[in-house]
Amino acid sequence: MSMSDAVKLMKQAVAKAAAERVKSGMVVGLGTGSTTAFVIQFLGDRLRSRELTDIRGIPTSFQASVLAKKYGIPLVTLDDVEHLDLAIDGADEVDPDKNLIKGGGAAHTREKIVDSLADEFIVVVDSSKLVDRLGSTFPVPIELLPLALSPVTRAVEKMGGQPNLRMGVKKDGPVITDQGNLVLDVTFDEIKDPASLEASLNNIPGVLENGLFVGVADIILVGELDGETPKVREIN
Ligand code: 5RP
Repeated sequence: MSMSDAVKLMKQAVAKAAAERVKSGMVVGLGTGSTTAFVIQFLGDRLRSRELTDIRGIPTSFQASVLAKKYGIPLVTLDDVEHLDLAIDGADEVDPDKNLIKGGGAAHTREKIVDSLADEFIVVVDSSKLVDRLGSTFPVPIELLPLALSPVTRAVEKMGGQPNLRMGVKKDGPVITDQGNLVLDVTFDEIKDPASLEASLNNIPGVLENGLFVGVADIILVGELDGETPKVREIN
């Protein structure tokens, strides 16, 4: 089995396990990324078979919204509901305290709003996302207003980070977020205190949100392979 087939199997297994936790009548935050794309697809299957009824989704991105429409999940906004029962989202890194780095899809601002409002936030990852310390494999994404690019870059460098403006793929120039902003991917030698770094980055004028999610996740579902058989492990 190729590496990409193995990762796909793990993502599908974990996505199915998460989609099975959704109950009829729930308001569900719909995450962004390749793993949550499978979650949205499985939710659509359950709705079509009438095993699940009357759910409403709150998308965390344009991608989630397009997929939800494709698979027949009714959508609402944060103006329409008082709370979310559940949010299901992916992550780029997960540490042993269930803290996360998110934002590989540049959707972390909306993701943090939606995921942190849910009564329960379930993270869906394959086993490659588990790390001992945040920042070891993935930089911290920061969404910022375009006019603040230079001052935010300087401020982040003063904090010891190495910022890189995220560039588009099959699009010349930088990635533009769903909100019309830029993303700096910031590498830190070591993130000793994720909570204080999360707060300090958000204190820089011009920064909207960063991809450190500290103390937000309730349950981590990890897709693993036992030989060629996918398994799902729960961390709570
Ligand atoms: C998007 C995210 C994604 O959840 C994260 O990048 C994981 O994506 P994938 O499931 O494709 O590995 O934070 O902003």
